[in-house]
Amino acid sequence: MTDNPEGRRGSDDRRQAPTDGPVAPNTPIRRPSDDLRVRAAIRNELATDRPIEPGELPALVNERTAENVIALDHVSLAFDEPILSDVSFTALAGETIVVAGESGTGKSTILKLLLRLLVPDKGTVFIDDEEITELNFPDALKVRQKMGMVFQGAALFDSMTVFENIAYPLREHTTLDEDEIEARVREKLSFVDLDPDRVMEQLPSDLSGGMRKRVGVARGMANNPKIMLYDEPTSGLDPLTTATITHLIIKLQRELAVTSVVVTHDIRSAFRMASKIAVLAEKRIVFFGTPEEMSASDDKYLRDFLGGF
Ligand SMILES: Nc1ncnc2c1ncn2[C@@H]1O[C@H](COP(=O)(O)OP(=O)(O)O)[C@@H](O)[C@H]1O
Ligand SMILES: [Mg+2]
Repeated sequence: MTDNPEGRRGSDDRRQAPTDGPVAPNTPIRRPSDDLRVRAAIRNELATDRPIEPGELPALVNERTAENVIALDHVSLAFDEPILSDVSFTALAGETIVVAGESGTGKSTILKLLLRLLVPDKGTVFIDDEEITELNFPDALKVRQKMGMVFQGAALFDSMTVFENIAYPLREHTTLDEDEIEARVREKLSFVDLDPDRVMEQLPSDLSGGMRKRVGVARGMANNPKIMLYDEPTSGLDPLTTATITHLIIKLQRELAVTSVVVTHDIRSAFRMASKIAVLAEKRIVFFGTPEEMSASDDKYLRDFLGGF
């Protein structure tokens, strides 16, 4: 894969795991919790709805050893007019990349490029170091199986029960038998903090908006994907439900080491859950880095962008 300066920009020694080398006798030992407190404090400046506890932060990824799971490399795409122009970013294994930007800037388009529902005019998309841009349809489908998608809105099948909604991708794409499917559906519902016995036979219309969203996440993760993609997962939700969904995304990262791309215009939840934030504006990525780096930046566009919240 070509070297990607955009994606690597902003590496920061504070985020590296401590080295294993010998430690001089009088060198103070850096406790990881020191950094966690600093990180939590910085993120709290913007994510003000409820204080972030250090234990709720996304887990750190070692930039020196983690593999590249997702990369957009100098991607350009136009419909009637140019939408994306020379866009590059990478997601290392276990990272949550939040793509933030105003409406119409091409955020959903980026997810479609990752799913190979769209092909760029220029540039390349890599999933697991495999160039997906040139794949034929069956191979593209295979790559898509590595990804779970949580669509904007809940996008559940209204006439199917919660059980059938989550079982659907399992029936389509796996050879699991009925008992295994039921076990998997129960496991995923429990993961998203829904009681399987209470909700499995309900219809989406019986559920609150936040519960539907959680079912959407359970369905997205049904196949145990390595990658999760979320399109505006918190839009239209009240602050409490927004916090619940944000924490669920962090839980997938912390407990299952899933690599995620989350598209949102909600900068507050971005500050909570992101390993790195990519800010999309004027067809380009105008910032790519950690929330801590973002809050320290004196770039005028970013200050205005953050000042609006
Ligand atoms: N299939 C398409 N054909 C033509 N224009 C499109 C298509 N999909 C998206 N667009 C346009 O591309 C721009 C970016 O869309 P989108 O990625 O959905 O933005 P966002 O998700 O950031 O709101 C918008 O101006 C939209 O109208
Ligand atoms: Mg969109």
